[in-house]
Amino acid sequence: MSPAPNTGEGGEGDRLPDLAPLMGMASGLWVSQTLSAAEEIGLFTFLSEEGGSSLAALTRGLGVPERPAEVLVTACVALGLLRWEDDRVVNTDLSEHYLVRGRDYYMGDYVRMLREFVYPGWMRIADAVRSDRPVRDESAPGKGIFAKENRPEFFWKGLRPLSSLTARALAEEVDLTSTASLLDVGGGGGAFAVELCRRNPGLSVTVYDLPHVCEHTREFLLSTDLRERVRVHPGDFFAEELPSGHDAILLSMILHDWDETTGRKLLDTCFQALPPDGLVVVSELLVDDDRSGPLDAALMSMNMLVGTPGRNYTTGEYRSWLTDAGFVGTEVVPFHGPGANGAVLARKP
Ligand SMILES: C[S@@+](CC[C@H](N)C(=O)[O-])C[C@H]1O[C@@H](n2cnc3c(N)ncnc32)[C@H](O)[C@@H]1O
Repeated sequence: MSPAPNTGEGGEGDRLPDLAPLMGMASGLWVSQTLSAAEEIGLFTFLSEEGGSSLAALTRGLGVPERPAEVLVTACVALGLLRWEDDRVVNTDLSEHYLVRGRDYYMGDYVRMLREFVYPGWMRIADAVRSDRPVRDESAPGKGIFAKENRPEFFWKGLRPLSSLTARALAEEVDLTSTASLLDVGGGGGAFAVELCRRNPGLSVTVYDLPHVCEHTREFLLSTDLRERVRVHPGDFFAEELPSGHDAILLSMILHDWDETTGRKLLDTCFQALPPDGLVVVSELLVDDDRSGPLDAALMSMNMLVGTPGRNYTTGEYRSWLTDAGFVGTEVVPFHGPGANGAVLARKP
């Protein structure tokens, strides 16, 4: 069908749909990069330390020229990251909690991880769509997408606050009070291990991850009060059996990194490692079975397209993979976390 001639009348009389949602999509990068620039120059940390600031003091304190300082502050106020108190600008609750360096749930490392590691690939996402291949640059092709050479160390640091907050949300809804030991498969920076132990006093966690990740995680754990209850176990879940002797296994943001065949194999490996009645917990941004959303899961899936051979799967897909691996009693527990909207639970008979 040939396109309608451009009459300047919108095709169907003068009634045009509201363009605003499309404008938001087209310029979405402006929002994320305003946040990113403000975080990078230390704006929120400066304002927290100073208890707010005039524009003049801010330009002096941060060493930023007046014009960009005013533009950036105005944009941050419009975004709800800052607010004016007379002629002083102050952090809002949101930025004070999550964007001040040193805070428990400081998200700045996540913002940096997106900016420096993830977004270069997003700029070429159409290539990923056309080719069905990740478009991340790999310094060591063939070594694996999580190899030391292919992931900067700040990837795990960046993921930690997001995963800590997800773990808090999961701990509210998934009852682990009668679980004594949990194996966190691909446990990364140890965020889940720490949060789950804090919320379940009887729990011990083993973080299982690649050796170079475990080195970094071990260091982080030493800075917590949980070194007696959280340990690391270096290994490669594609090359060896998982350590046995745990009552439960957690897979948080693991299966979405891989294709279906690989994901199913990993569930078989988990099944082998669990004792009878052992629990498996798959925590992910789950896609609705009718593939209509939710938006955060759908966009995380796009992010997987950029960087991995995986995607975000539906609840129904996970139920059937778990059943095929031999697990029984699959159950979906919804919650609201930044890195997961629910967990699919099942037990080894
Ligand atoms: C997306 S991260 C999720 C980290 C953590 N579970 C969380 O939710 O924060 C995936 C993790 O799987 C780990 N991983 C990837 N391949 C692995 C392998 N072959 N053996 C063990 N861990 C692996 C990565 O190092 C990384 O920490």
